[in-house]
Amino acid sequence: MPGSRFYLTTPIYYPDADLHIGHAYTTVVADAIARFHRARGREVFFLTGTDEHGQKVQRTALRAGRSPQEFVDGMVRGIQALWGRLGISYDDFIRTTEPRHIRVVQAVFQRLYEQGDIFKAQYQGWYCSPCEAFWLERQLREGKCPDCGRPVELVSEESYFFRVSKYADRLLKHIEQHPDFIQPPSRRNEMISFIKGGLEDLCVSRTTFDWGVPVPFDPGHVVYVWFDALINYISALGCLDPGPGGERFRRYWPADLHLVGKEIVRFHTVVWPIMLMAAGFELPRQVYGHGWLVLQGEKISKSRGNVIDPNVLMDRYGTDAIRYFLLREIAFGCDGTYSESALVQRLNSDLANDLGNLLYRTLTMIEKFSGGEVPEPGPEEAVDAEVRALALEAVTAAAARMEGLEVSAALGELWRLVSRCNKYIDEMAPWALARAGRRERLGRVLYVLAECLRILAVALTPFLVSTPEKMWEQLGLPGRVREQGWDAALKWGGVPFGSKVRRGPPLFPRVEFEAQAGGEGSLPEPVEAPGGAAERQGRAEEAAGGGGAESGAVLKGAGAQAGPERAASLPDRHGEAPPAGARGPGGKGGGAVAEEISIQEFARLDIRVARVRAAEPVPGAQRLLRLELDTGSGSTQVVAGIAEQYRPSELVGKQLVLLANLKPATIRGVESRGMILAAVAGQDLAVLTVDRPIPDGSRVS
Ligand code: MSP
Repeated sequence: MPGSRFYLTTPIYYPDADLHIGHAYTTVVADAIARFHRARGREVFFLTGTDEHGQKVQRTALRAGRSPQEFVDGMVRGIQALWGRLGISYDDFIRTTEPRHIRVVQAVFQRLYEQGDIFKAQYQGWYCSPCEAFWLERQLREGKCPDCGRPVELVSEESYFFRVSKYADRLLKHIEQHPDFIQPPSRRNEMISFIKGGLEDLCVSRTTFDWGVPVPFDPGHVVYVWFDALINYISALGCLDPGPGGERFRRYWPADLHLVGKEIVRFHTVVWPIMLMAAGFELPRQVYGHGWLVLQGEKISKSRGNVIDPNVLMDRYGTDAIRYFLLREIAFGCDGTYSESALVQRLNSDLANDLGNLLYRTLTMIEKFSGGEVPEPGPEEAVDAEVRALALEAVTAAAARMEGLEVSAALGELWRLVSRCNKYIDEMAPWALARAGRRERLGRVLYVLAECLRILAVALTPFLVSTPEKMWEQLGLPGRVREQGWDAALKWGGVPFGSKVRRGPPLFPRVEFEAQAGGEGSLPEPVEAPGGAAERQGRAEEAAGGGGAESGAVLKGAGAQAGPERAASLPDRHGEAPPAGARGPGGKGGGAVAEEISIQEFARLDIRVARVRAAEPVPGAQRLLRLELDTGSGSTQVVAGIAEQYRPSELVGKQLVLLANLKPATIRGVESRGMILAAVAGQDLAVLTVDRPIPDGSRVS
């Protein structure tokens, strides 16, 4: 049994865009682990937070027309609200813009500089802004970032460097002597070969932007965002405070577990331990690099534009269904495929059919055959003893799985019990016992079922939030399940005879997936396609409950590519039909000007010049073209309802105007990431272009 304290962390997330299901995955897993250890009686400290500095955040804030601080403050409110809805029980939320963090970053930087581990030199190399990572020419893959495959930019500036190379041997020795330090083993092996391949000194300051922690002795430099961010794990504990403020550090450091996605294992198992060694701190006990959630074979990520919004899923299916899906569907450590149909399948089969029905059937029978009170059981028979043994064995096995971070397998153990109980009902046929007047036997069977449900309620507390409480309440048990502690699931006989059950509605109503009009992606694909691409996009987002309708309304007013006569029937953002002229149905364009907006609202639209690299019809859709666009820093694809006005060959090479930050949608099975702007008058439509050539990706403002 590990120590009685447990400190675990998630990565601190970049607040440059709304978080998606991938971030929710790490955080829900961490939450289940934290809740499990608390239930086992350990003193847990669970930390999460946001990584707010760096080039990427600064650029995004600028694009939104806000100061970086103002921008991140707004984003962080959204992130904390998301964690609140998902039931994340963190003990502290660290923001890297907080003085308690900045102080520590500066002190560590200064300390390493004074001891000669940080020195100044000229940096010349490549930088991947989405990953905030430096690369040497030889490390690039086909000229792109070797981690994410996106374009890199040449950086040449005077910088401070951290003598990482000096510590390589010590780190290797540590990894070899501590087999659990990097998990799972595949990532450990990768990191060992990475270190053996030779470590380069790391550039740890930047001068070409200023959104970061100033280097204390050279304020023209800001600390490299990864050097800054990693320190959160100790700054949140007050690591430099010798007084009461440092109590948490003395209590909880070294961390028991840093949970991270596999793409940032290198930062956590090479850079971070070397920073700690150099600064004279102990190393964390374990870094676990889990796999990714993938959608149609690709990692779910903001930059790929294939994100799934957990808020939308919670609106549709509820918090516990999402938590269950994330914890159960993916074998922890491996990549796992996200699909909404798999989620609905899990919800219907495991939660509605198996668990929900078990409770509902049991309580209905207790009401019907026992006056609503848990009966006093008659003598135990072999089959009852077998179920009792299985209950205790399943809970013990689930705990062992959780200790080994096999979260999905832990739930699998508990579901063995759920299935056995459902089978037990069928085998024992309590209704027949009632008919035959076998009261003692019936009492035992109902008691076994109530007791198994009590055990399940306790054992599910790490994984689900409201369901175990509902089960507890419906079983008529006193107090709250979360006050019970894990051991309550290991003791048979906790349901008092005579306790009055309170059957409620089914825990999980079944969901008809088709009725959700959803495809496999995040956004449902409209069944019919009556209008142009913009119309469909607007509808898809409305159906998904996304915020895209707001920006869409402005653009439709300005005459985007929506089919004109259909566009007039689109509801505006308040659900009312717009004034006829506003959507240009009369063939003359113009009409009443739409509702006033502020410059800040306009600044939320990321409109750019983009060049058409390729264009082709969308099979089976007369009005649609698929366009591949060069956006300067990369490429994207959109589906546009312009096939009746333009031949694909006319468009290739043209610079068009793209609304780049529209939520992605799948239109006729093709993903569309943005919207081409066009002027619309009656049946006529003309795409917007620029007056003279200008670099692709230039901002339209
Ligand atoms: N800010 C850095 C982390 C600094 S930690 C000192 C960062 N932030 S991030 O916003 O990009 O979040 C990355 C993390 O989010 C991943 O390591 C992983 O935990 C989670 N995920 C993001 N996308 C994911 C998937 N598609 N699948 C699973 N987890 C994902 O990197």
